[in-house]
Amino acid sequence: MCGIVGYIGPKPALEPLLTGLGRLEYRGYDSAGVALVTERGLSISRSVGPVGKLRRRVEPSALGDDARATCGIAHTRWATHGAPSERNAHPHTDATGRIALVHNGIIENHRSIRQYLAKQGVTFVSETDTEALAQLIGFLYEDGAGTGPDALLVAVCGALREVQGTFGIAVACVDTPGRLIAARRGSPLLVGIGDGEHLIASDGAAIVEHTSRVVYLHDNEVVTVDGGGLGASTIDAVPLRKKVERLELSLEQIERGGYPHYMLKEIHEQPDALRNTLRGRIDPAGAAVNLGGLERVDCSPADLRRVVIAGCGTAWHAAMVGKYLIEEIARVPTDVEYSSELRYRNAIVEDGTVALFISQSGETADTIAAMNEMRAKGAAVLGVVNVVGSTLARETQAGVYLHAGPEIGVASTKAFTAQVAVLALISVRLGRRRHLSAERCAELLQGLRSSPRAIESVLRLDGAIRELVSRHIDRQNWLYLGRGVNFPVALEGALKLKELSYIHAEGMPAAEMKHGPLALIDRGMPVVFVAPRDRTTDKVIANIEEVRSRGGHVIAIATEGDHELASAADEAVFVPPVLPALSPLVTTVPLQLIAYHAAVLRGHDVDRPRNLAKSVTVE
Ligand code: M6R
Repeated sequence: MCGIVGYIGPKPALEPLLTGLGRLEYRGYDSAGVALVTERGLSISRSVGPVGKLRRRVEPSALGDDARATCGIAHTRWATHGAPSERNAHPHTDATGRIALVHNGIIENHRSIRQYLAKQGVTFVSETDTEALAQLIGFLYEDGAGTGPDALLVAVCGALREVQGTFGIAVACVDTPGRLIAARRGSPLLVGIGDGEHLIASDGAAIVEHTSRVVYLHDNEVVTVDGGGLGASTIDAVPLRKKVERLELSLEQIERGGYPHYMLKEIHEQPDALRNTLRGRIDPAGAAVNLGGLERVDCSPADLRRVVIAGCGTAWHAAMVGKYLIEEIARVPTDVEYSSELRYRNAIVEDGTVALFISQSGETADTIAAMNEMRAKGAAVLGVVNVVGSTLARETQAGVYLHAGPEIGVASTKAFTAQVAVLALISVRLGRRRHLSAERCAELLQGLRSSPRAIESVLRLDGAIRELVSRHIDRQNWLYLGRGVNFPVALEGALKLKELSYIHAEGMPAAEMKHGPLALIDRGMPVVFVAPRDRTTDKVIANIEEVRSRGGHVIAIATEGDHELASAADEAVFVPPVLPALSPLVTTVPLQLIAYHAAVLRGHDVDRPRNLAKSVTVE
């Protein structure tokens, strides 16, 4: 979490730093700060709240000549150590105030570093783990860890070798005003190479308007950027030659394009996002799936014994859908794991285990750690990732990109539907090499092809869904129920509602309700049944009766024309008929709209819900 930007070049640094921070705000938005390297020393400004507040504070009229500085670093924070406050906002400095540092990640041994430095007379001014690193770098620098122009680099590397935990950092120093240093371990970082300028960022979104030429840092790598270009080494001083890559992102993709919120834009982008996900992956005859990214996997379908799918939050819900699909379509036993549990559990990995790691960002710390653990145990590790070039994408053996385009809203929407589509493709591909008939394969692939149009028709219900939500907006408890492949969709609907509207919501299998949660039902409580017509419809209707007879208000997500189910409910949102196995692609969409409108009607910040950040790069 947290976003980092650095700029060094011929132009005043302030504007690229602030614009870049604005584009990284999804990574954290409780405070922000900037350090400019000026002739009279570091000029540091910090403020609590979003980047807009910092921008007002650093108007050129307020900064005077400092605003002309051509080198600086900036940060937008998601607090881990120390409350959101100006004192805890980055950049942090060393004791002399000559070195400034911005950091994304967690310094796990910050207490012991603090204790050591305190004994040497260093006084700390914040409660953050980051200040421990800034002070340690300053201490080593002052101690003469190195001399000459590379003295700061030597001090930075020396400090990073002492650090346990994760970091993406950018460092500036008044003694080397034309140079910035950046390093990473476990937190994403890249350097953009522009026309006589360099930009450092946690994510390409921060620099896309300046350049599409980038260098991605790997763990334990450090780079210096200055007038002479870019120099790279490991933190153990082994020189490196870094490859310049192309940033797969355009400015247009990351702007709101007339929508009031990124989330609404991303919900409405789902038909096109899915078309991009499917493009080139279904062979023209409609009877085979091409997933080039999987060709490199050692484990052949005949040897495949078990699939493990792991992820967090929405990605975990997609994984659950994947379990239903892979078991039904490919007949391969499949387990679903929370990444955060898998990484610490002594998971059993037998020959023939393939582990799939699902992540929109490709930077979720728990998912990366779980992937490393499974690889160490001998599983083939694959990624299902949206962000091209992200850590998970680079460090898995093989994988499938979602191609859903950038997702900026904190609530995951189009990534979920793209994840489900990719899992469906993987299921069909596996199934076809095992038991799946050509007819069923063609039927499923045709179903996938038609899903963008089906979603378009659900999106036309936007206004009606807003009306529906407005009738229940005062309710503080909602239930979401589903069966089979729509049970994870119920979980996803509940997660969306709580993270955006702060309304308490639970999702569960419809039949589980009578084993306890039925006691919650009181008059008018909204209970959403995700119930497209399938072989369980009769059972679902019985579950609906159970809720209504206790006063609950049933909102059914039903298949167009299913009057039997609709008349059992209090109200219904109709989705087009699709194959039951693929129904999550359409049933999820009304639930996204319910959560979106509930948040708007309650006056919440839809794209930046409280306490959250888009990618969780800390444990
Ligand atoms: O980037 P990832 O897909 O790995 O992120 C996983 C979760 O943090 C994410 O899906 C989260 O649950 C969303 N905010 C839900 O909308």
